[in-house]
Amino acid sequence: MENDNELNSTFNEIDYDEIKQYAYLDEGSFGKVYQGNWKGLNVAVKHISTKEEKKAFFVELRQLSRVSHENIITLYGACTKDPNICLVMEYAEGGSLFKVLHKKKNIDYEFGHALSWVYQCAKGVDYLHSMKPKPLIHRDLKSPNLLLIDEGRHLKICDFGTAADKSTNMTNNKGSAAWMAPEVFATSNYTEKCDVYSWGIILWEVLSREKPFSNEDNAFQIMWAVHKGSRPKLIEGCPQIIESFMLKCWDGEPSKRPTMKEIVELMGKLVSVFP
Ligand code: ADE
Repeated sequence: MENDNELNSTFNEIDYDEIKQYAYLDEGSFGKVYQGNWKGLNVAVKHISTKEEKKAFFVELRQLSRVSHENIITLYGACTKDPNICLVMEYAEGGSLFKVLHKKKNIDYEFGHALSWVYQCAKGVDYLHSMKPKPLIHRDLKSPNLLLIDEGRHLKICDFGTAADKSTNMTNNKGSAAWMAPEVFATSNYTEKCDVYSWGIILWEVLSREKPFSNEDNAFQIMWAVHKGSRPKLIEGCPQIIESFMLKCWDGEPSKRPTMKEIVELMGKLVSVFP
């Protein structure tokens, strides 16, 4: 966006004094997220901490105000006046899928449950890719950006600070290397197929319950390994239909990856087989 304040979308300007804030929750691609209450609603409040984060804030505000889907976090509004710049959104009490998968190992879930999460994620992304006049690319799909509500049954995508309808250099991508398609860090020329790659990594993550590329020490090493063709190791006992599909999503050549629509179609069939 050329001008940060040129929003081209409507949103609800919230009076900062009406928000009560409680606990610190999380850090996103920018800003810090707190739990709060606004007009009796449980909300998540995302604050920017530096001037540099202002640009990402307005990107997220602009993109979130354009979207409305059951698998995308709902924006209630925003305070856009310095020094209290923040987004006010729906609170997801189940926290992130990343935490459920890797930090709450005592929580059991079934194969059908795992497929339902990735299916819901695919439906949200397919909606973004179907937007007019141009597809909206999320660009930072990863399990920390997938939130759970309704006792883990309902999944919603969050963090639109790097979402865009054109390919540009990615700068706000801390902690995202493991889910990032090779063309995203190697070039600034990529399409919505980069979200398909990330979705494939999330599929592997929920089925293996391991962190992707946890054997690599840092983001640079992950990118180098992925660039050289390295991918997560195959999962023992994974149904063949899922394994071959997962491999297609990770293809180094973006045009060989399926579309999100194709993913939604296949996942829709699979979740009915593994309810
Ligand atoms: N972390 C980031 N955004 C959140 C939200 N909307 N609800 C709960 N935790 C979050």
